Amino acid sequence: MNRRAFLIGASALGLTMAGGFALSRRSTIDLSDIGERRRLAMPQLIDTIHTGKFELTAMAGETRFGGGGASTTVGYNQPFLGPVVRLKSGSLRATVTNRYDEPVTVHWHGLLVPGVADGGPHLPISTGETWRPELTVSQAPSTAWFHTHIHGRTAKQVYSGLAGGLIIGDGRDDERAIPSNYGVDDLYLILQDRQFAPDGQMIYGLGMMGQMHGFSGETMLVNGQFGSVAAVPKGIVRLRLLNGSNARILTLGLSDGRPMHLIASDGGYLPKPVPLEEFRLSPGERAEVLVDFGDGRSVALVSRTDPNSGPSGMMGRFQSVYTRLLGSVFEVLPFIVDHRMKARISSVPSDLDGDTPNLTRDVSKVRRLSLDMNVGGDMMGGPMGINGKPFDMDRVDLSVQFGSVELWHVSSPMLAHPFHVHGAMFQVLSENGGTPRPENGGWKDTVLINSDAELLVRFDQLAPPEKPFMFHCHNLEHEDAGMMGQFTVT
Ligand code: C2O
Ligand code: CU
Ligand code: CU
Repeated sequence: MNRRAFLIGASALGLTMAGGFALSRRSTIDLSDIGERRRLAMPQLIDTIHTGKFELTAMAGETRFGGGGASTTVGYNQPFLGPVVRLKSGSLRATVTNRYDEPVTVHWHGLLVPGVADGGPHLPISTGETWRPELTVSQAPSTAWFHTHIHGRTAKQVYSGLAGGLIIGDGRDDERAIPSNYGVDDLYLILQDRQFAPDGQMIYGLGMMGQMHGFSGETMLVNGQFGSVAAVPKGIVRLRLLNGSNARILTLGLSDGRPMHLIASDGGYLPKPVPLEEFRLSPGERAEVLVDFGDGRSVALVSRTDPNSGPSGMMGRFQSVYTRLLGSVFEVLPFIVDHRMKARISSVPSDLDGDTPNLTRDVSKVRRLSLDMNVGGDMMGGPMGINGKPFDMDRVDLSVQFGSVELWHVSSPMLAHPFHVHGAMFQVLSENGGTPRPENGGWKDTVLINSDAELLVRFDQLAPPEKPFMFHCHNLEHEDAGMMGQFTVT
């Protein structure tokens, strides 16, 4: 297996050095060896539909990612990452035990539960302890996830493996004609970039650029695996895509240019599928797409380079022009059609039963939030913050009224930041003064702020002052550096 194929930007760099402009941006993806690659494995599925309960245990482990030596990792119920837990409406018994030698939390990102059950920085689980939150699920079917959230350690701990998947279902996907056979035509894909030393060890090191931009690795892992190929049936397949990277912003497309039909964003189904040639997925965001493999051909999920990185550096938002010219694209995950697998669905449905958020009428408060790269006075490497203030566990930044809708005007003076709100879903009203990107048309809990955006946020979950909700940049290095605030909902 050719390791260079998995080095992000290796092929693009080659083109740059040859002086050529890769106008045909997808020509650099080589799928000739995919028949010999390892098959991608799905995370273990814990289905709570009948049991009404699940258990997670954080534990240290060892993982061999490539040909080299073992890496020290950490996961939930396994050495690296965690299971996918399928939930349905109603109350659930969750048991979370920490067998790792540092405090961890389990934050349910995308689950609408009160502050006391949210698993944020105020709910650490010490080594040897068990947390039993009361989870009542009452929201639309969607793809969510869970991860640790200890303030100051989130980036390192998530990088080391403390993250897993959540699927909220209602058992009605057959009626919608949407694939739902887990691991066959319904794939949960955790996309993460990582860095490996020549001996195969996964490493986390932050230089000055890493502090400022957040961590970027040169190898893409999918569900913790490297260099795999996903086998799919000859028909419609649903991909639940989670950008679980610390900082890398993905711009996803398919190598032959075929459309991806966006059916759901963070908060669940859209009213209709939206065919897209490419879309942004920043850290923390999820998107569900349908892909038609009916022609039996292999294709790869690819990404453009991160708009925050590269020669334009801090001018992140102008980067897209540059990448369009150079066409830097790297492979994320190839797919091979396996004729023995049963395709259940052969066409993209024309209607879904999701709703278009429409919150404009009831705004009770307008707030302005500025995502600030440097609030410490030093040039670089100092604290980051929101509205000039770094995160403080003992300071509640905003008090929100239960049941209200607020208009949040969020701006990023430098770089693009994935902005996330706990315990709420929002509607993106505008981006940079214009209509939101097509992928941001549905309910969201995380969105990339590229300059500025207006969000209409609906607050339907309580959070008392002792267990407030967070709002933060989901670039985990930025979050740990202080680009986070807290709010109560009472
Ligand atoms: Cu995905 Cu505050 O987190
Ligand atoms: Cu969250
Ligand atoms: Cu940020």
